Amino acid sequence: MAKEKVIYYCQSCGAESSKWMGQCPACKEWNTLVEEVVSSKKGARSVNRQEIKAKVTKLKDIETTKEERIRTKIGELDRVLGGGIVSGSMVLVGGDPGIGKSTLLLQVCKHLADDGRKILYVSGEESLQQIKIRAERIGKFTDSLSLLCETNLDIIGEIVKREMPEIVVIDSIQTMYNENVASAPGSVSQVRESTGTLMQMAKGLGIAFFIIGHVTKEGVVAGPRVLEHMVDTVLYFEGDRHAAYRILRGVKNRFGSTNEIGVFEMRSAGLKEVENPSEFMLGGKPEGASGSVVACSMEGTRPILLEVQALVCHSNFGIPRRTAAGTDFNRVNLLMAVLEKRVGLQMGACDAYVNIAGGIKMNEPAIDLGIVLALVSSYKNRPIDEKTICFGEVGLSGEVRAVNMAEQRVLEAKKLGFSTCILPEVSKAAMKEIEGIRLIGVKNVKDAITYVT
Ligand code: TYD
Ligand code: MG
Repeated sequence: MAKEKVIYYCQSCGAESSKWMGQCPACKEWNTLVEEVVSSKKGARSVNRQEIKAKVTKLKDIETTKEERIRTKIGELDRVLGGGIVSGSMVLVGGDPGIGKSTLLLQVCKHLADDGRKILYVSGEESLQQIKIRAERIGKFTDSLSLLCETNLDIIGEIVKREMPEIVVIDSIQTMYNENVASAPGSVSQVRESTGTLMQMAKGLGIAFFIIGHVTKEGVVAGPRVLEHMVDTVLYFEGDRHAAYRILRGVKNRFGSTNEIGVFEMRSAGLKEVENPSEFMLGGKPEGASGSVVACSMEGTRPILLEVQALVCHSNFGIPRRTAAGTDFNRVNLLMAVLEKRVGLQMGACDAYVNIAGGIKMNEPAIDLGIVLALVSSYKNRPIDEKTICFGEVGLSGEVRAVNMAEQRVLEAKKLGFSTCILPEVSKAAMKEIEGIRLIGVKNVKDAITYVT
């Protein structure tokens, strides 16, 4: 007989504990532990020695066929996936509620159905009518897309075996349940168990699965982080709900690189790819304002230009206020300390606010020089020439260190009409002259500041 016992699971990272605690010892989140009833199977069968048929294989004896990729024809998504969908793989698409996950996957279904591929879209969140209304906004669909409103995994499994589609979309994993698990849909054990069942289906039948998972800050639903280790690919859909653009970021990928990002814009007729993100990010940049400078960050193989803004002003309180939006707060504090100690700017008594315009998150060290110049420009109240762009990593002695792929960055700046580029001296020395853009190599922060102000 199965015996029931109570385990406390962290809704954020999935850590287990036998007693309740206010803070999760693994991920340090507060109030995320919830009680779940699990039934332990007694007398699990040990492996009979005669039954073992598995044998080891030498690496050189394994034959590989070139894995076939199914292209979604959404270029931004294909790139993040590493060239397309691998059959039999499992892709988790996570994101805040309302960010556009269902819309993105319905669009993927549309493109694949246009190619005549057999697709099954399983929704546990919306009714068939609601999906139809959304689909009508996106465009015309062909007959090879089938829909199913169901949350019971046994039934879904039977239908998948009967229909044998090439691709299945599960919207969302938190609504699915497995009858063998005692806890409620959305709980950690239920979400894990459901993913395991789907994974077996994916590998056994060679069907590619897309699973949607909601990211929840708090509440009773387990976040997609608890299944990251189980699936092949993890993509997160991020962006400000109030801004139009969305970024699809690869966090884990067994079949490709995780550095790539895809940029989309939410329109009234669904998501549209943004082919030139730099232009998009720089839209609305103020002219002749101090504290604003254009920097360049590499996202995978693609350079993206972005505007770094800073506001430095005298503090009215004893402890100055500092904030950083879109970049690392500690990095900003470090760069301010470098300015104070190595350049002699008295910023200790100033409030400082740093922002990457557009709400995008960028953490590449190459934008250090951008942050430094924006801070100095605001502190001295001197605008930086609009046609100037900068990049470079700043070290603790105030030196400007080399960054990779300097040439691609410069070419992107040139393409968007910039006339001057401030870059690390070392990177400049390793590069050829590029016509149409002036390259200024700097060794340390002081040189860069002298040049712009
Ligand atoms: P949705 O895909 O339902 O989000 P999720 O599945 O991640 O919860 O997207 C919801 C938002 O997208 C909703 O606020 C409306 C907006 N939207 C558009 O702006 N245009 C469209 O064509 C569609 C379908 C949705
Ligand atoms: Mg949805």
